[in-house]
Amino acid sequence: MICNNLSVNENNHLTLAGVDTVEMAKKYGTPLMLMDEAKIREKCSVYREAMKEYFTPDSMPLFASKALSFKYIYKIANSENIGIDCVSAGEIFTAVKAGFPMEKAYFHGNSKTDDEIRFAINSGVGHFVCDSIEEVSVIDEIAGEMNVRQKVLLRITPGIDPHTHKKISTGSVDSKFGVAIETKQAYELVEKTLKLENIELMGYHCHIGSQIFEYDPFCDAARIMLKFIADTKEMFGFEAKELNLGGGMGVRYTEEDPEIDYAANIKGIADIIKELCAEYGITLPKILMEPGRSIVADAGLTLYTAGYLKEITGLKNYISIDGGMTDNPRFTLYQSPYTVLLANRMNEEKDYKCTVAGRCCESGDIIQEDVLMPKPKRNDTIAVLTTGAYNYAMASHYNKVPKPAIVMIKDKEDFVVVKRETIEDMISNEVDF
Ligand code: LLP
Repeated sequence: MICNNLSVNENNHLTLAGVDTVEMAKKYGTPLMLMDEAKIREKCSVYREAMKEYFTPDSMPLFASKALSFKYIYKIANSENIGIDCVSAGEIFTAVKAGFPMEKAYFHGNSKTDDEIRFAINSGVGHFVCDSIEEVSVIDEIAGEMNVRQKVLLRITPGIDPHTHKKISTGSVDSKFGVAIETKQAYELVEKTLKLENIELMGYHCHIGSQIFEYDPFCDAARIMLKFIADTKEMFGFEAKELNLGGGMGVRYTEEDPEIDYAANIKGIADIIKELCAEYGITLPKILMEPGRSIVADAGLTLYTAGYLKEITGLKNYISIDGGMTDNPRFTLYQSPYTVLLANRMNEEKDYKCTVAGRCCESGDIIQEDVLMPKPKRNDTIAVLTTGAYNYAMASHYNKVPKPAIVMIKDKEDFVVVKRETIEDMISNEVDF
């Protein structure tokens, strides 16, 4: 199967981390997101150990918590001794509530509000990653009012095409993120930032995109950023102490997707960086990376209960489920591939083609098109694999559908980490008239 935490038991049921998924669906109801804590920890440690070994000892991964944000995840990140990337007061607040040491947090976002900036400073966020000179100036002003000298990284657009979906590609010159080297505006940004009194410039950041299988775009980005460090050292006498290479390494959603050796990629990137540091005469900076998807995606799967089978003679079959784009909008948004299994009949022939359709009043609410599975029937348990990243995180209340529960599995024990939302929860902010 696509990940080694999946198997089939004697009842021909799909298991995750040794636990029967069909039993979990019965116990907690569906839609249900089931997560394997050991897999999350394994991924954290692969990044942490490789980065420590191949870069400087203080180099570390930051979990990009936009991929999945709830208190328990920040607790895992903390106990795995890694940092985090946050993009909103909401993510910062959740991490604070989980007792995360916020000096290891990096605050991102191309549209930080004044209130969020104040909130982040008050929460003790270690670094801000800034997207523009206007933003750095606002942070300088607010930090001044608060008597703080704020550590900052500048987000630089390296001008790379990472060959991924356009909507999740971020490193090209026309991106809404960062400031481009190509237009020379990145140099201006450094020069101006260095003059700000309440800003301590620590270095640079780049992020080229997400779900990238190729390794060359990361190497190209590293080369461009090292050259930028060398150039800005020469131009302004400023040598970056930190270089954040962003996230983006892909994960397997289907059997066709290649397996990525994350540690080998990190070593390859490190070799290039070390060679260039020697060539340019610069000290190896502390390196940061921001994996999101590759930390949590294959730790998670979503369980649904099958609804009705619609067979359109000679054309197409649909099986409806009790969730859909409200808990997983990724096919609707990016036509993302997924592996879908009939979790309660894993031994049967996959000889029936059908499209897995969500419950929303929208034709585009599809989880996956033309899946081969045993002919599904009402109340079967349908499992969609690799849903740990950007599924719950992007869930919505469209059609007033409540968000699912998240159940963690640890040492074969299962426990709720996020409760199922109730319909009462959904109207809790509504005013009575
Ligand atoms: N750092 C920055 C600055 C980012 O913008 C992102 C992702 C990451 C790190 C983490 O990238 P990862 O390792 O997860 O690829 N909703 C889309 C993905 C959007 C990614 C946004 N930024 C999806 O469902 O595919």
